[in-house]
Amino acid sequence: MNLCIIGTGYVGLVTGVCLAELGHSVICIDNNEEKYNKLIAGVVPIYEPGLEELMRKNVAEKRLSFSMNIQEGVEQSQVIFICVNTPPKDDGQADLTYVEKVAREVATHMTSHKVIVDKSTVPVKTGEKVAETIKRYNKHKIDFDIVSNPEFLREGSAVEDTFKTDRIVIGVDNKRAEKIMREVYAPINAPVIVTDIKSAELIKHASNSFLAMKISFINALANICERSGANVEEVALGMGLDRRIGRSFLNAGIGYGGSCFPKDVAAFIKISDELGYGFNLLKEVEAINAEQVQLFIKKIEETLWVVKDKKIGVLGLAFKPNTDDMRNAPSIKIIEALLKESAHVTAYDPQAIENTKHIFPDIEYCNDPYAVAQDAEALIIVTEWDEFKTLDLEKVRKIMVHPIIIDGRNIFNPSDMEKHGFIYKSIGR
Ligand code: NAD
Ligand code: UGA
Repeated sequence: MNLCIIGTGYVGLVTGVCLAELGHSVICIDNNEEKYNKLIAGVVPIYEPGLEELMRKNVAEKRLSFSMNIQEGVEQSQVIFICVNTPPKDDGQADLTYVEKVAREVATHMTSHKVIVDKSTVPVKTGEKVAETIKRYNKHKIDFDIVSNPEFLREGSAVEDTFKTDRIVIGVDNKRAEKIMREVYAPINAPVIVTDIKSAELIKHASNSFLAMKISFINALANICERSGANVEEVALGMGLDRRIGRSFLNAGIGYGGSCFPKDVAAFIKISDELGYGFNLLKEVEAINAEQVQLFIKKIEETLWVVKDKKIGVLGLAFKPNTDDMRNAPSIKIIEALLKESAHVTAYDPQAIENTKHIFPDIEYCNDPYAVAQDAEALIIVTEWDEFKTLDLEKVRKIMVHPIIIDGRNIFNPSDMEKHGFIYKSIGR
């Protein structure tokens, strides 16, 4: 099938590359020239495991191309995926100006029947607005269908998540669109949920908010564990073995970050308010998340008493491992707090240093974790990269001024760390 992807960010590029790999002919459109120039040079502008190789393969096999010209994309494609960003406004509401702009542009360039698929994460009832917009700008009254097809991939495992997704959600209002969408995804072996457009939109906000709620729940429990002497890992294991609960997304830490959970929980709260239902449960999820990183900062300050002028090493900057994404990374709040207290911050991350330099141009960046540990008064673990789990702890202890590790991701066993001679603080145990 001839498919067009508009917006080549994390979602659009991964979707475009994977749909090409499945045999479709895909044109990816982006209006960011810098990004476009990288893509046509065969360079993926983000770090996402496996993506660059797959992109180059599909370009070479002529199933994948890039353009900045939306008209070209719309004219030659039967199905058009909107994958642009939907960032938060100051009040938490989703900013849909990019989606609206694309809807207008698509409408202007339609010359034959099109299926217009919203893959961006949007509040319920956005499909209605997109349909109205397209009707308004579609001067030649070309026939079209609107589909909601939310995306569930995670950064860091986006390619694998796309091919091995738990489900494909297709929100439609007629059989023709359903048939075309089923054909797009036919090569993927996953349950397909066909539903109405509003329910599909809600499935996305509900899923992300539920996962965020699991994280806030376990973080709240971690605080109870710390105060009572229980161990949150044991509690999560015991709860998680109940199949109705499940162990995943019960890792206590420093709160959820990234470009999606914070923004989607806020947007869901906002749309619920607009619909006349105050979703207070989600407001608490947000509040617990905001508090969690502050409690971690307090733990650092309590352990070191005074941080002024101390060399403090930060291991991990990205909001999660296997990505270079710094959007809403908890490391930002932690480093800000340390700098406010005049600490000397050194940092290492396997992928996110370049993106962090835009946020903190003046901290010291190191080429490996040992350089961070050298002469440090304390090490702070912020992102659970595999590389940190296999550190030579003897070496680390010897090169630090004081063997203090404050671990926001629970990557080490506390009694092992004690044996290695560390003062080791972690979360909820
Ligand atoms: P992103 O910011 O990485 O990418 C968006 C892209 O759209 C950018 O490259 C931008 O230049 C382009 N764009 C914006 N307006 C355009 C226009 N008028 N014409 C052409 N291109 C345009 O965003 P993302 O992380 O890929 O997220 C996209 C959407 O998918 C969001 O709604 C997000 O919530 C949702 N989502 C993201 C993830 C994720 O892991 N990042 C997962 C699931 C869903
Ligand atoms: C999340 C969802 O998992 C995807 O299904 C969804 O498509 C995506 O948001 C989106 O809509 O954009 P992502 O943000 O890439 O994916 O990463 P996650 O693995 O979900 O992690 C999000 C945050 O939660 C990270 O900061 C992570 O450290 C934190 N987290 C996750 C925890 O603190 N504990 C956990 O147990 C799991």
